[in-house]
Amino acid sequence: MKSLTLLATFATASPVYILAKRGEPGDVQTCNEPNWSGNCGWIPLSDHCHINGTPGVQSLGPERNGYCTLYANSNCDGAEVISEMRFPGKENDLPEFGSFKCWKD
Ligand SMILES: *[C@@H]1O[C@H](CO)[C@@H](O)[C@H](O)[C@H]1NC(C)=O
Repeated sequence: MKSLTLLATFATASPVYILAKRGEPGDVQTCNEPNWSGNCGWIPLSDHCHINGTPGVQSLGPERNGYCTLYANSNCDGAEVISEMRFPGKENDLPEFGSFKCWKD
């Protein structure tokens, strides 16, 4: 819990630094509030479809040398809302999406 608070604090001050330090290619940071605030966490690279989208995800930031695809539905297939979101990602005004999946280059 303490480290999560710390992460959120640092993320507000310097998201780029955190993103550069904490993730491996293909990892992605998400927060449930805009501007890297609220509850944030790192999701390690995997071939899973993350059935998280708006409004639960309000900040989404892939690590360098990787990217995420945002899908309209919750199955990671069909229409792509953003086909290739790259570092540093988007911390507000995310378009509506239902799921996402990430890859490393
Ligand atoms: C996020 O940051 C932007 C730019 O600094 C600001 O305009 C906006 O009000 C912030 N949004 C929230 C919800 O804090």
